Amino acid sequence: MTLDQCHSILDLRAQARRRLPGPVFNYLDGGAETEFTLRRNTAAFEDRQLIPRYLVDVSSVSTTTRILGRNIDLPIFCAPTGASCIYHPDGELAVARAAAQAGTYYSLSVAGTHSIEAVAAASAGPLMLQALLFKDRGLTRELIEKCKASRYQALCLTVDAAIRGKRERELRSGIPARPTLVTRARILLRPRWWMAQMLRGPLRMPNLAARSGHGGFLASAQYLERQLDVSATWEDVRKLIQIWGGPFILKGIMCADDARKAIAVGATAILVSNHGGRQIDGAPAPIEVLPQIAQDVGDRIEVLLDGGIRRGSHVLKALALGAKACAIGRPYLYGLSAGGEAGVQRALDLLKAELVAAMRFCGCTDVRRVAESVVRPL
Ligand code: FNR
Repeated sequence: MTLDQCHSILDLRAQARRRLPGPVFNYLDGGAETEFTLRRNTAAFEDRQLIPRYLVDVSSVSTTTRILGRNIDLPIFCAPTGASCIYHPDGELAVARAAAQAGTYYSLSVAGTHSIEAVAAASAGPLMLQALLFKDRGLTRELIEKCKASRYQALCLTVDAAIRGKRERELRSGIPARPTLVTRARILLRPRWWMAQMLRGPLRMPNLAARSGHGGFLASAQYLERQLDVSATWEDVRKLIQIWGGPFILKGIMCADDARKAIAVGATAILVSNHGGRQIDGAPAPIEVLPQIAQDVGDRIEVLLDGGIRRGSHVLKALALGAKACAIGRPYLYGLSAGGEAGVQRALDLLKAELVAAMRFCGCTDVRRVAESVVRPL
């Protein structure tokens, strides 16, 4: 199947499944425990219906919006995902280039397999770094300095990752720490994948390598694990926002109370997110908690959403319920696995085309003015 023959994110997922060794696909695709929350993230969009509205002039439709002090060409951006080189040798560089081509943000994960500087050199588009509150606050400050030097526009702090989710698909295969023998055998079944990986050379986490004694990927991953700080509080976030001094997103907010605290500490935006169902299982889908949060905060903070988006119509529903823009994780990783940068472009193009079609069906001409009445519950 070529990329042109992939007509939906689900087609790209099927192609990613064919290309990747089973354990790598499961690492990408899986969620925590029973995967209830993972499934719910997408299913909850289907619990809301779009009301078509015709005989409106929709000959011109605008998908441009403004978040974090910058215009973007579509209300969709690329969420941070660690270790993107395991899907394709170009990894983060391919995603950053495709996002720039689409005129939108790329978020580099601190657990990325390319450096802050390399991503900035590869992309002319808007960039943000996703950080964590590390035990060693000096590390966070060092990353911030690098971002400033490389002209990153925004900093994103993930608050739902200090405790590790129990992802059983990963535990069974031993990925990423210690692959089992069966896992190694399943990797050998995808020669095209492992040849590309061999040619690329050893996997690294360059943004953490210096601090983890210039060890390999595993050493950096273990260092990252040790640095996770479960004692961090809102006061730490306030300090970090002051040190950064620019547009700042809190990622992982799931209730109005935390959204109000985000306003109080001076964040620019919240990303309503449950980490794509990879952390806590049993939590609601972001789209289920969005209306209450958006209503509560009004215009006092920018509200963004990720989790479960597989269709342009899902984006339209999120905009109608109060989000300014949405992020995607797995959809672009499926594209990256299926065909590198062109695959990521395909994922973004498909979602954009579906969004524009859904807007036209619903009589919407501007993503900045989507009426709540476009959506009704089942
Ligand atoms: C993630 N996500 C994530 N988030 C983050 O803040 N830092 C990270 O390093 C990662 N890594 C990561 C790896 C993989 C394989 C996935 C699928 C996800 C979460 C990500 O930013 C986003 O919240 C979800 O992916 C959104 O859900 P969908 O779009 O994947 O359904």
